[in-house]
Amino acid sequence: MSEEPLPGPRCWFAANLGWLRDPAGYHARQRQRFGDPLGGWLGRLRLALTGSPAGVRQVFAAPLDTYAPVGVDLAGMLGAEALPVLEGAAHLALRRRVNAVLLEGEAAQAGPAILAIARAEIAAWPRGRAMPAGPLLQRLSFAVIMRVVFGVIAPGRAEAYRAAFARLARHAGIGLVLLPALRRDLGPWSPWRRFLEARATVHRLIAEDLAAARASSDAARFDTLARLAALREADGAPSLSDAAIRDTLVVLLSAGHESTAAAMAWALLHCWATPGVLPRLRAELDGCDGAAASLLRLPFLEACAREALRIAPVAPMMVRQLARPMTLAGHDLPAGMLVGASAELAHADPAVFPEPEKFRPERFLDARFRAHEFFPFGGGRRLCPGARLALEEIRLVLAVLARTPGLALADHRPPRRVFSGPLLAPSRGGPRILLQEQAT
Ligand code: HEM
Repeated sequence: MSEEPLPGPRCWFAANLGWLRDPAGYHARQRQRFGDPLGGWLGRLRLALTGSPAGVRQVFAAPLDTYAPVGVDLAGMLGAEALPVLEGAAHLALRRRVNAVLLEGEAAQAGPAILAIARAEIAAWPRGRAMPAGPLLQRLSFAVIMRVVFGVIAPGRAEAYRAAFARLARHAGIGLVLLPALRRDLGPWSPWRRFLEARATVHRLIAEDLAAARASSDAARFDTLARLAALREADGAPSLSDAAIRDTLVVLLSAGHESTAAAMAWALLHCWATPGVLPRLRAELDGCDGAAASLLRLPFLEACAREALRIAPVAPMMVRQLARPMTLAGHDLPAGMLVGASAELAHADPAVFPEPEKFRPERFLDARFRAHEFFPFGGGRRLCPGARLALEEIRLVLAVLARTPGLALADHRPPRRVFSGPLLAPSRGGPRILLQEQAT
């Protein structure tokens, strides 16, 4: 066992700057120099970062009392019962219920709904001029979450949510996140008052839809809101309070919307830019009746989605904070330190993914990768609860795109991978696409 600090860069400022400037390459270079696990920094906190299969497995499989809620106090902003601010038993209890609905539950109806939204949105995309795909895919992804997670059907209602969430995002600035002292109501123009007012509008919309779901006897509703509202304990009492459901829905939208849009942008770019991929995808689609259930059984389509998530993981690393000491690959790490599992490093491991820099969907047809080798959705108890929904959406949208006549990349310069909040999204709004005018 080693009592020494982990080898890695000494200066926290330079380390953060290096990572922000080159999020896709910085840790790989540092690991080449210092080894795995790598001693790094996140802000001013020390981080032990691993991309080795054994290290990742250990981070994800650590016992329940290993981690504390991660640093910044966000309960005041997200709600005391929001998933990201819970840890240990409280987190597990809420996750069991969310998993029962999103990750494990029967969601056969979500596929047709996603497909219908994808067809309608893509049919309305502007034609005859080059445009970045990112904002269009974000709009599509928002519409999917509105329908599948919030159960919103009326277009006017979805627009009300869109405006309310956009206002909330505008007023939930980084200053409020990092400086709890700013969270004081100092009058109508103060940042905290504006944030509270924006949040109240979102909460009012959700409260109305939740009341309608509780009052309805529509057992066919498959959306997350209705299914969380319908969860019951053994004695028949609702499993989750309205506040817990509301905070969960806000987190689901925040965590699920831009991430899926970014993943779809990478999938679009790589499928269209890599020779041979699109013809093979189209050939597979030609042999299919086009129903959602049939599309979701197509192996090459699924392999394309997974390979896009491998080559450009939207979440580059999953970070935990130690509540008690841990020994990682022979290094003793103290309580309070951060540990991270890096998808960026693991997904580029040539021993697991030969020629990792190449987009090769076939690798997912030829082999099955383990949860500590391929983990775009994280792992362990915090595994993304939206993983199934996201994978379905990426596949169905990719299928609609591949069958859209006249859709081409307008620019073959690949976008860079840049931070968009905590995510790595394509620069410049994503790949530029051109949809030819329809022949009349
Ligand atoms: C391609 C799209 C997506 C990617 C790449 C992604 C990735 C991730 C990752 C890496 C984590 C952290 C896991 C960990 O720490 O081990 C996470 C957490 C989470 N994701 Fe996703 N996600 C996506 C889509 C979604 C969707 C569609 C939803 C909701 C409908 C969602 C909801 C959440 C929530 C609520 C958490 C926090 C879970 C917790 O703290 O227990 N995500 N996601």
